[in-house]
Amino acid sequence: MDHFVYRDGQLHAEDVPLAEIARAVGTPFYCYSDATLTRHFGLFGQALAGLDHLICYAVKANSNLAVLRRLGDLGAGMDVVSGGEYRRARAAGVPGERIVFSGVGKTREEMRLALEGGIRQFNVESDPELEALSEVAASMGATAPIALRLNPDVDAGTHDKIATGRREDKFGVPIARAREIYARAAALPGIAVVGADMHIGSQLTDLAPFEAAYTKLADLTRALRADGHAITRLDLGGGLGIPYSRSNEVPPLPLDYGALVKRIFAGMDVEIEIEPGRLIVGNAGVLVSQVIYDKPGEGRRFLILDAAMNDLIRPAMYGAYHDIVPLTEPDPAIAPEVFDIVGPVCESGDTFARGRPLPPLVAGDLVAFRSAGAYGAVMASEYNTRPLIPEVMVRGDQFAVIRARPTFDEMLARDTIPEWL
Ligand code: LLP
Repeated sequence: MDHFVYRDGQLHAEDVPLAEIARAVGTPFYCYSDATLTRHFGLFGQALAGLDHLICYAVKANSNLAVLRRLGDLGAGMDVVSGGEYRRARAAGVPGERIVFSGVGKTREEMRLALEGGIRQFNVESDPELEALSEVAASMGATAPIALRLNPDVDAGTHDKIATGRREDKFGVPIARAREIYARAAALPGIAVVGADMHIGSQLTDLAPFEAAYTKLADLTRALRADGHAITRLDLGGGLGIPYSRSNEVPPLPLDYGALVKRIFAGMDVEIEIEPGRLIVGNAGVLVSQVIYDKPGEGRRFLILDAAMNDLIRPAMYGAYHDIVPLTEPDPAIAPEVFDIVGPVCESGDTFARGRPLPPLVAGDLVAFRSAGAYGAVMASEYNTRPLIPEVMVRGDQFAVIRARPTFDEMLARDTIPEWL
């Protein structure tokens, strides 16, 4: 459920017509609904109620400071994967004790930054990373709390590019080596073992892979405790999918996920952390765009929008489906027409949808891509020297630009032509 609904024939974000925002900020733009964000964050709280837990929002999904501030105020912790994301979480007011640091390639500089600023735990992904962290922490006279990210060799059954828990994926260490690496960690200066971690992939639409992975994690936790390690936290990662298409996809609900987590971990006397990103922000955002041309092709019709793959790369990169709807509510009595929905960028990959039935649309009409709040704005680029598009947040009847569109002067000023050229 989200708060982008037709009212008086116009698609609204909460109480604001999206067309009004389009007039104020120009197209294309991203728009987020605070009520939807809040609702989806709350679903995880309900799902894990009764368990000692912390919801560490995966900052990578949408890292706008306003989004982070709101979630931080709701009590979220943060899962960061770079020094940049760590800085964003801190700038949004989230204390270090609520930030976990994930990622396969943390640099010593990033480790130092987090140790200085405060960190809940590092999710360590390899032996060399463990050694580096020990050196950095010991040189600072600090202690780095760690969880080891374990690779359970479970196929999440999602898109190949976002499955992370198979043995051939670059993430984590094999479970078979876990006890040996924990023993090493326990002996290293500057390291304090606090837990274990997993994240098997993103946009999972089935609970079975979670169940397989978490069962392995629970078994390993018992073995590690028997070895004398204080495993007080288990980080279960993120990955719960969302419905992108209203018609066919029905991912499990957070409540079902929570029931699974409780079934496996309740009674283990352990604090549970989860790292959801997409489920919290995905359906809390839309991308609004304007039709530039309705171009006749050979046996097809191209609807050329002012948004492109540089603004929303998911269809080009993963073949991802996004619902596209007109801002003016369509008349159900009028038959849909079939379009290829494309952007202006100079490659054929800049295609959002092929053969998509839509209500009749003409140049100047506005459309919204649904479920664009996660992995939308954060993955945007300036390809074709197209400025990053603005982000807007709505609460009730108010809206605010939470990232402004840069000017071309600002964009060009970042380049330097050497004097000697
Ligand atoms: N934790 C870790 C360690 C992760 O790598 C990720 C996502 C998450 C949590 C959050 O997963 P979520 O709950 O959002 O599924 N750009 C792709 C998705 C990449 C996901 C990367 N890791 C897309 O647009 O589908």
